[in-house]
Amino acid sequence: MCGIIGYIGVEKASPILLNGLRQLEYRGYDSCGMACLDKDIEVRKGVGKINEVNNSFSFEEINGKMGIAHTRWATHGGVTQKNSHPHISNNGKIAVVHNGIIENYQEKRDELKEKNFEFISETDTEVIPNLIQYFMDKGGDFVDSCKKALTELDGNFAILAIHRDEDVIIASRKGSPLVIGIGENGFFAASDIPAFLDHTKQIVYLYDEDFVVMGKTLSFYNLKEGPVFRQTHTVDWDVEQAKKGDFEHFMLKEISEQVETVKKAIQQEKAIVENICDEIRRAKGIFFVACGSSYHACLSSSYVFSKISGIHVNVVLGSEFPNYTHFLNKDSLIIAVSQSGETADVLEAVKEAKKKGSKIISIVNVMGSSLTHHSDEFLLLNAGPEICVLSTKTYTAQLGLLTLIAYSLAENYEEGKKKLEFLWNVIYYLTSANTRNKIKELSEKLRYVDHLFTIGRGLQYPTAMEAALKIKEVSYIHAEAFAGGELKHGTLALIENGTPCIVFVAEDNEKEILSNAMEIKSRGGYIIGIGPKNNEIFDTFIKVPEANSMNPIIHLAKSVTVK
Ligand code: F6R
Repeated sequence: MCGIIGYIGVEKASPILLNGLRQLEYRGYDSCGMACLDKDIEVRKGVGKINEVNNSFSFEEINGKMGIAHTRWATHGGVTQKNSHPHISNNGKIAVVHNGIIENYQEKRDELKEKNFEFISETDTEVIPNLIQYFMDKGGDFVDSCKKALTELDGNFAILAIHRDEDVIIASRKGSPLVIGIGENGFFAASDIPAFLDHTKQIVYLYDEDFVVMGKTLSFYNLKEGPVFRQTHTVDWDVEQAKKGDFEHFMLKEISEQVETVKKAIQQEKAIVENICDEIRRAKGIFFVACGSSYHACLSSSYVFSKISGIHVNVVLGSEFPNYTHFLNKDSLIIAVSQSGETADVLEAVKEAKKKGSKIISIVNVMGSSLTHHSDEFLLLNAGPEICVLSTKTYTAQLGLLTLIAYSLAENYEEGKKKLEFLWNVIYYLTSANTRNKIKELSEKLRYVDHLFTIGRGLQYPTAMEAALKIKEVSYIHAEAFAGGELKHGTLALIENGTPCIVFVAEDNEKEILSNAMEIKSRGGYIIGIGPKNNEIFDTFIKVPEANSMNPIIHLAKSVTVK
């Protein structure tokens, strides 16, 4: 994942781009760079985080009222100055920033080499400015040459391109996110809205293969369809939502926001939710499709669907979905769940299902994302921007909304909504400084362990899976989740003196899960209990009230991470 931003307007571009890059740094931070056009294109780039690179290269000194910038997370080619973006064409006239992966770059590179083009980086991106130059050398103008170059590329891209002799920025996307911002003093294009939220809330969401010429006006094309109309939307995100404020980091801020975000997720139009419930009832074969944390939210919700509404749902990872497509037909229903709405495996799954005539409903946080374009219907999570790479507030928002749907399916919409609304005070307590301090204390004990296990039964099992994912992602500690009953089938052998195990307890399976915890304890394990009641087995206990089918929302509403 990388972040890109472009600006063209009446103001000096470099401070705007630098500020935008800082908002996009969550997308990649191993190197960054900027190219602005004044009399000529000036490029500055380097290895390191944005502030480090800026200290050496002073981005804000670059003049010009249009420019493009990039913050990188290396995929093709190591973390070096040469590989950082922007990349420049051989004639020095074209600069390009890119997020995505060009799958046929090697083939294009070889073709261009045969035509005497030289490459200085190891990236896939460098073929783009050179391919544009190639078409211009053959007599094409900048805009048409960009179109021709992009149609030759396989894979995913969001790109911004500028040319020394043209006062336009070309912005185009296929499979990677890119949104356009319309400000009073200029136009913006960026991987994510917060990059220009300080300047405008007027947004144009782009479809796959859209191609925009940003100059004094905006012209929208689609590489397949030709000229297209794209609507302007106003985002209701608060500028402050996209800023860290007094919080140490975005993860902490977003964990704290859950008091509001679970409430917002369930503020849906009842008639729309009921309509979706009718689709679910009508369907012959329902599939939840998602990846990562969103997959865990689906797994958890499949228990809730079964328990509350008696409906069976197949839960499939986006990347595994191709193996299930032979079960699909026009009566199948896919419920795709995604924070970003841009996860490639989920999008591929949805496209495959559409080919079979299946209906697609999505639950997504980002309005205008690709998933919303590919869905017959969608519900927005309304959780606001999730800047932290880790999913936190959207995980609980997904659980909240899916639980509301389960209640609605059982003709108990209002009861479900009331119960979910009531959770706010539990979440408030669990995300308070008090609980945070307790968790900080615990993390001191755990930070140097090599392995950690998490266990739960029933609804608490997906919770254990999600907790393990978060611990791996944030703490780089190997964490593995098990259904309580499974440990004895082999893994118990790994429990040694002091091996920590987080045990998620709920009233309906207390006896069974405590018996599993005992098996670990008797092998020397260090037991951290999370649940409604303390027990002598626990070495550490974190009290979380019993909330039955809503346990998954509150069990993870706190910071179960080891720093
Ligand atoms: C984990 C995390 C990822 C995402 C996964 C799916 O903290 O953030 O596992 O959950 O990449 O992303 P979305 O929900 O955007 O489809």
